[in-house]
Amino acid sequence: MPKASTSSQQETEQEKKLRQLAEEIRVHDARYHGADAPTISDAAYDALRAAFKKLRKQYPHVALSYDPDQKLGAPVAQGFAKAAHATPMLSLDNAFDADDVADFFARLRRYLNVLDDGSLPCMAEPKIDGVSLSLRYEDGQLVLGATRGDGQVGENVTDNIRTIADIPPKLSGKFPITVDVRGEVYMTKVDFLALNQSREAEGQDVFANPRNAAAGSLRQLDARITATRPLRFFGYAVANSDDVGVLTQQALREKIKEWGFVLNEPAELCDGVDDLQHYYERMKNTRHTLPYDVDGLVYKINNLSLQKKAGFVGRAPRFAVAHKFPAEQATTCVRDIMVQVGRTGALTPVAELEPVNVGGVLVSRATLHNEDEIRRKDIRVGDVVRIQRAGDVIPQVVAVMVDQRPASSQPFVFPTMCPVCGAAVVRVEGQAVQRCSGGMGCRAQRLERLKHFVGREALNIEGLGERRLQELMDWGWVAQPADIFRLKKHAGDLAAREGWGEKSVEKLLAAIDERRRVTLSKFIYALGIPQVGEQTAKLLARHYGNFPSFEKCMKAAAVPDSAEASDLQNIDGIGASVAAELANFFAHQAEQEAMRALRQELEVMAEDTVARGPLSGKVVVFTGALQTLSRAAAKESAEKAGAVVGSSVTRQTHFVVAGDDAGSKLKKARDMGVPVLTETQWLEMLGARA
Ligand code: IVH
Repeated sequence: MPKASTSSQQETEQEKKLRQLAEEIRVHDARYHGADAPTISDAAYDALRAAFKKLRKQYPHVALSYDPDQKLGAPVAQGFAKAAHATPMLSLDNAFDADDVADFFARLRRYLNVLDDGSLPCMAEPKIDGVSLSLRYEDGQLVLGATRGDGQVGENVTDNIRTIADIPPKLSGKFPITVDVRGEVYMTKVDFLALNQSREAEGQDVFANPRNAAAGSLRQLDARITATRPLRFFGYAVANSDDVGVLTQQALREKIKEWGFVLNEPAELCDGVDDLQHYYERMKNTRHTLPYDVDGLVYKINNLSLQKKAGFVGRAPRFAVAHKFPAEQATTCVRDIMVQVGRTGALTPVAELEPVNVGGVLVSRATLHNEDEIRRKDIRVGDVVRIQRAGDVIPQVVAVMVDQRPASSQPFVFPTMCPVCGAAVVRVEGQAVQRCSGGMGCRAQRLERLKHFVGREALNIEGLGERRLQELMDWGWVAQPADIFRLKKHAGDLAAREGWGEKSVEKLLAAIDERRRVTLSKFIYALGIPQVGEQTAKLLARHYGNFPSFEKCMKAAAVPDSAEASDLQNIDGIGASVAAELANFFAHQAEQEAMRALRQELEVMAEDTVARGPLSGKVVVFTGALQTLSRAAAKESAEKAGAVVGSSVTRQTHFVVAGDDAGSKLKKARDMGVPVLTETQWLEMLGARA
């Protein structure tokens, strides 16, 4: 009996772990795809995915609110029209070593019934880390460019991609009537460095790596800005390859080239694991000489009918695999160790490095995480260190070359006082992180709080970057979030300051005014309560509905064993430590005052408690004879998912579902570049997104 209970307890622990991993991945997915601003390295992300995959195998039936295997990329950002993909845009499974590649082939052979010694030729090609794009050509004319989005529906970036010279507006040679070319938008290493240099000179934030630069440049709401960015494109696949009339991936590449695209070179036809391994070693050693960042290779079964037979599993095709390169490393010297203060006061030590080129990116800083990490690796000022990045955002120190250490070297002493405000540094028992105890009295914490408040995921006030916030703080006009909404009274003074001007002040004030109405969940998130991320803010907003009841309950929840405290902890997804942070936040006099001031400036709207459908806000038009759905059932299916059914195709139509004998509406949709789905694709979309 006790034994049984132990094992079931273990099971729930494991299931909890699975959920936590899924949630962690969700957060990183959102940062990476939604905000083009990842906070962990690709290698660390891959490790999370691998841990998730392993655990998921043991618990395939656990329901997850976010299933990383089913979700791809980010939902469509605000501002771009939506574009449904006629064929879903998928991702690739990763292989990290020769064993993983061998496993991939063994699985594929079993699935395809190809004997061990039977040949299974593969196209091997570089994997360039950029942004995937689907290009639709009709009668050879470019009609639509769409990002991956969540794999089913992406962002319509047609205007932007028309500015990319590598993307032909018109296909050459012979082509199917409709063709969806898939490929990658990227930036070369040289262009990336030059772009960052000019941004730095203009005082703008620099991009962390070529991938972010490409994503950020592509997803501009103003195509004229995209036009100024050095974006490139290579084509690597055709979604409807059946229509092209070729039998192999190699021949498909030739077609793509004939149509006027640039291919990702150098590619090679290989046969067998040994052959691929040779190509891999060669590419790994020469990748620095390529003009772009390559994070691995992609192996694709050459035979297109076998590709089709292999099909897909989850979010990835069975016929292809990405063989990743190990992280890129370099040796350099630690010039200094600085300690940064974060939004919640957390102190993060950062190594200032002798700038070094790591795989085409100039690296001058590396995170040292926390005091324990410095002590564990014994990293000191003056040390020669090995650092690494793998398309990494924040490079890391892998090892210290102790034998090259100067004789005078001293261990690093972690500050006991905040380097910004001088308040005591405290460490919570059992935690690695040390915090400045200065709270809102600390300038660094204030600035970080303000940055968070106006940031993209919070209030999203455009035109208020770090530099401007700093200036506003220096001039004494902004100390807390509410002050941002009172800037109008300084408009005249502000316009007279260097680097501002009337136009930009006007624009900023308009952007601020636009944010005077905010949903409860955004508001809660924007407050910057420790451990309260977007997801938690949403849970709280849905549960409490409006600000007054949220505030009242949070204050009451500070009393242990109160009804409010247990109600809070009973919300699925809210644990004891989040509850404690909330109670702590609301018990703070200064926080209460800051919230009161804010609420005089803006309106916090009650949260929409009605569940919004996965297709909410989309307009769909049905045309022609559908096979399985009556018109009424089709309409109902759409409305259930939150979509609106239109009777005619207009600029507002997001997609058209065409059955047999569809006539003028189908033609109009094609003429206007509105995505057209078959009935099966429509049903799949509802199924996959429900
Ligand atoms: S083929 C069905 N080939 O890597 C998936 N993808 O990690 C077809 N990528 O989403 C993808 N280079 O954005 C393919 N030579 C290449 C690639 C490539 C880069 C990207 C692509 C994909 C991601 C998967």
